[in-house]
Amino acid sequence: MTAITAAITVRSVEQALADAARAAEFGADLVELRIDSFTDDLPAITRLVERSPLPCVVTCRHVSEGGEFDGDEQTRIAALEHAGVGARKPAYVDLELAAYQTSANLRQKVHLVAPRNDTGLILSTHDFRGRPADLLQKVEAMAAEPNCRVIKAAWFARSLRDNLEAFELLRASYKPSIMLCMGEFGLPSRVLAKKFSALLTYAAVDPHTGTAPGQPTIAQLKKLYRWDAINSDTQVFGVVGDPLAHSLSPALHNAGFDATGYNGVYLPLRIPPEYEHFKATVGAWLDFPPLHFRGASVTIPHKENLLRFAHERGAEIDALTEKIGAANTLAVRDVGSLYVTNTDYAAALDAVCDSLGITRAQLRGKRIAVLGAGGAARAIVAAFTHHGCAVTIHNRTPAKAQALADQFAAQAAPLEKVRGEVVINCTSVGMHPNVDETPLPDLARLDPLPGVVFDTIYNPAETRLLRDAKAAGAHTISGMDMFYRQGAAQFELWTRLPAPLAAFRRALEPK
Ligand code: ATR
Repeated sequence: MTAITAAITVRSVEQALADAARAAEFGADLVELRIDSFTDDLPAITRLVERSPLPCVVTCRHVSEGGEFDGDEQTRIAALEHAGVGARKPAYVDLELAAYQTSANLRQKVHLVAPRNDTGLILSTHDFRGRPADLLQKVEAMAAEPNCRVIKAAWFARSLRDNLEAFELLRASYKPSIMLCMGEFGLPSRVLAKKFSALLTYAAVDPHTGTAPGQPTIAQLKKLYRWDAINSDTQVFGVVGDPLAHSLSPALHNAGFDATGYNGVYLPLRIPPEYEHFKATVGAWLDFPPLHFRGASVTIPHKENLLRFAHERGAEIDALTEKIGAANTLAVRDVGSLYVTNTDYAAALDAVCDSLGITRAQLRGKRIAVLGAGGAARAIVAAFTHHGCAVTIHNRTPAKAQALADQFAAQAAPLEKVRGEVVINCTSVGMHPNVDETPLPDLARLDPLPGVVFDTIYNPAETRLLRDAKAAGAHTISGMDMFYRQGAAQFELWTRLPAPLAAFRRALEPK
């Protein structure tokens, strides 16, 4: 069973034991005591290992591989030796392959601590610049070393594709292994370590106390990423976009998997904006069957890229999505074929109809003002013109409004001339972090005032536009209403289970 290993930088015995106790409380299985800067007080190291509330890995990481230790090997060996002289031994001692290979003398001394009956030797290699060119040779060298009980390789991921090699190495290894990608792109290797039967994954006790870039916290692994439920059959999903720091989709879908018992996990998957990145990464993930990558929510700036990719891969594309020219959902069917659709369209219609207590048929003839003419506006304009609304598009760049209007039998008008019973914001104005901005600073002076204002922005849930509209007496609809509906449609498509709406709403409540 893959162990959650709390990475603890030791500054004093008391602090390390307090951190270890909290790690145990959060549900960690092991602690890694990083004694890089704690090599002077040797009896304290022995005490620390003896009193640790969880089995421990003892590591004194050298600066050359991202640690803080820059003393001589004598000092390092003495520190490791003292970790192993107490009544309770460390479960593992971790030493870099490079150091282990330097001299027979050093190896002999290391062997006084590990491998021993109770204590395994982890040989490790780290590269903070990227995948080392000789990664495979290093892994082979560790595998071939009879004293090495566990192989560990960690490198900085340049893209999400790096994770696939980590999974491949775990699958191929005949010794217990740890294969991790560092940095934001490496999160899948940390969360899915359990799916691929790694010996352990590292996690931070608190945010920002991790010992390597990209380590999630124990709480994130357990609660957000469903650690306890992950096994080799877990189906993998994610949100593809850039940036993603504020995406609520992982919280939404993972809560849905929890509520229904579906064996899935949902991850943030940042892919840089260019189509070539999208194609290479999504293609590689789809073409790695052991991953069980079954679908993705696709957001800014990749909605057009998804459609292009779908064409190139011969995916089935829903006809309306084709007309909108942007897709937000990728689903992999059981037989492996791809299906691409746009759940924003129905979500926007339902958000408005449910909020007003009307049917879609009753939308006919309503005068709708759409602000913006980008990707988000396309789905909205398609949806409301299709249901017989008189849609007028207002955009900062008038030519784009006109082009969109021409395509969907709508009108275009300047931003200053917003008139409509229903105003829908499809620009990005007012989105986090620019929460004091609004696309309609003159809302209170509109004549007539709109009766309904709907903001497709969901972060924040109440934008300045909605606050102004409420103050002016309009009925308001939050982007959150549309957000969880588009997610619900994706969830149902992927899992063929009814979306647990109550769990979705709870997941989106501000914490
Ligand atoms: P999305 O896919 O989210 O719609 P987009 O295609 O970049 O993103 O479109 C963003 C929309 O917000 C566009 O209509 C844009 O207006 P332009 O077509 O003139 O670029 C609009 N927008 C963005 N920032 C704006 C601002 N500060 N004021 C007014 N409109 C803005």
